[in-house]
Amino acid sequence: MKVLVSDSVSQGAMDLLKKSGIDVTYEEVSPEDLLKRIPEFEGLMVRSRTKVTKQVIEAGKNLKVIGRAGIGVDNIDMPTATAKRIAVVNAPRASTISVAEFAFLHMLNMARGLSAADASMKKGEWAKKKFKGNELYGKTLGFIGCGRIGYEVGMRAKAFGMKMVAYDPYITQQVLDPASIKLTDLDTVLKESDFITIHALLTNETRGMVNAAAIKKMKKTAFIINCARGGIIDEKALKEALDSGNLAGASLDVFENEPPTGSPLVTHPKVCASPHIAASTKEAQEVAGVTTAEQMIKFIKGDKPEFIVNKEILK
Ligand SMILES: NC(=O)c1ccc[n+]([C@@H]2O[C@H](COP(=O)([O-])OP(=O)(O)OC[C@H]3O[C@@H](n4cnc5c(N)ncnc54)[C@H](O)[C@@H]3O)[C@@H](O)[C@H]2O)c1
Repeated sequence: MKVLVSDSVSQGAMDLLKKSGIDVTYEEVSPEDLLKRIPEFEGLMVRSRTKVTKQVIEAGKNLKVIGRAGIGVDNIDMPTATAKRIAVVNAPRASTISVAEFAFLHMLNMARGLSAADASMKKGEWAKKKFKGNELYGKTLGFIGCGRIGYEVGMRAKAFGMKMVAYDPYITQQVLDPASIKLTDLDTVLKESDFITIHALLTNETRGMVNAAAIKKMKKTAFIINCARGGIIDEKALKEALDSGNLAGASLDVFENEPPTGSPLVTHPKVCASPHIAASTKEAQEVAGVTTAEQMIKFIKGDKPEFIVNKEILK
């Protein structure tokens, strides 16, 4: 069995593939070379650099499994993979803690203005009076979407003494009880929260969900954090709300277009921006690589992988 690893993955993942008797080639091939080389391989492991297009999948005459060492499979042509009965496996839990910690970091930063204070110091200022922040203790944190990452943010916010409300139409209160998060409707989350953190999936339902009408319902003193996916917040509406003083600030790790070249939000004084790095930790990358390798090995050996994206091919 031959597997091509065409993006850099953790050493643990490479070792695991080799240990299970797989003939592993690691080469960051160009799109042209990938098309030429892919017929040799039964497995392909990628992160996000490699684009596994329709042409690549069709050229992969021997391809049986594609591993995505991470979560999003936007770089893989899923309909073609499924039509060819090629399994696509991933590691959906690998970055949960990293993203939760990063969203929390953004929230603390919004509350205390740490990045702005640091930028001011670097300009030679000593602007003590400018940086009067807020405590998180006793404040209400609202969640839009509260799955794996939202729950972990909640566990951390509980330790900070925050009250929590969440809107997520696809989960039950029972799941959120250990984190003391109260499941409610979207309007309550918008109206009651001092901080809103988005952890929903990007779907047709959630695209543009945080629009001008939703922002209008929020407190003028509220902060919003998006470490989920660009597109859930209507960026134009967000900028207008920040400009007009209808919202206190926003922390964004994700954008409608990435990189957000020329976006007025990135340079906005009420915005703290980061370049989609919430999941970028050594730990998350290690777990993503190893989990994906495990999943690929399971499929190759004829076992059922837990994290198969196109489950329909198992039928
Ligand atoms: N910034 C990053 O680098 C990074 C890294 C990993 C994940 N993410 C993103 O974080 C988000 C959450 O990931 P997760 O692992 O917690 O996923 P998850 O599937 O565990 O949770 C997502 C939640 O969204 C909810 N949801 C779906 N439709 C909804 C709707 N209409 N309204 C409200 N909630 C809705 C689901 O019920 C689910 O509970 C995803 O958008 C994911 O793409 C970002």
